[in-house]
Amino acid sequence: MSNLGKFVGVGVGPGPAGYIPVAALQALQEADLIFMPRAHSSEQSVAGQCLSGLSLPAEKIRELIYDMEPDRESLPQVYLKLAESLATQLRSGKTVAYLTIGDSLTYSTYIYMLEALLTLIPELPHTTFPGITSYAAIASALDFPLGKGKERVLILPCPDDSQRLMREIEEHDIVVLMKIGHRLPKVLKLVRKMGIARYCAFASNFGLPRQVVCKGVEELPVECAGYLSTMLIRKESGGVL
Ligand SMILES: C[S@@+](CC[C@H](N)C(=O)[O-])C[C@H]1O[C@@H](n2cnc3c(N)ncnc32)[C@H](O)[C@@H]1O
Repeated sequence: MSNLGKFVGVGVGPGPAGYIPVAALQALQEADLIFMPRAHSSEQSVAGQCLSGLSLPAEKIRELIYDMEPDRESLPQVYLKLAESLATQLRSGKTVAYLTIGDSLTYSTYIYMLEALLTLIPELPHTTFPGITSYAAIASALDFPLGKGKERVLILPCPDDSQRLMREIEEHDIVVLMKIGHRLPKVLKLVRKMGIARYCAFASNFGLPRQVVCKGVEELPVECAGYLSTMLIRKESGGVL
């Protein structure tokens, strides 16, 4: 396939405007088409909201609508189908960018998209640009050290089992807890019971409408739960910060 285009993965946000590496922005400006995922249940693409102020031409932006919670096993099949429209453009020689929120290869649907495209077009030229992880953005906003000296840091999708979460907290200095969602009440109960709530930080919809951000979760209402929720857990103070 001599006329094959190039695929570019770009992490934006995860919320605040302007959070995009310069090289990734240049790649978006040079792309013929920019695909952005949008959950079927959402009115606006979160990745699209993170582009605000970047003045990218609307005519090269395309939305890819997906179901929020397909079961994990079916994700490769779902993305193979979604990837077909990108593959068509790539086969006609276009440079196609795909947006994801935060870092491109950190718990991101971009991973499924790249796998699907490489299944459809194994020789596809591609570049993945790293982005700013949600936890790095939240930590910076709250002066929350994510590892001093030899502190041990665990990045953990929130388990259902509170006992398991407690063991992980006990075995690490810092736990970055992602994908909290409806488990927030359980998590708050646990960190309060462990007496460490004042050392923890939380953000939901960071940099987006309905943002909640706080350092110290002693008083955080359980209603703040949402899909885009992250907690930074420490067992003791981070020092002056
Ligand atoms: C599918 S993962 C995407 C992770 C993303 N690639 C990153 O680098 O952070 C979704 C999880 O990322 C976190 N997240 C992403 N954006 C966020 C935001 N704006 N505010 C708070 N947490 C966010 C939440 O833990 C959410 O459950």
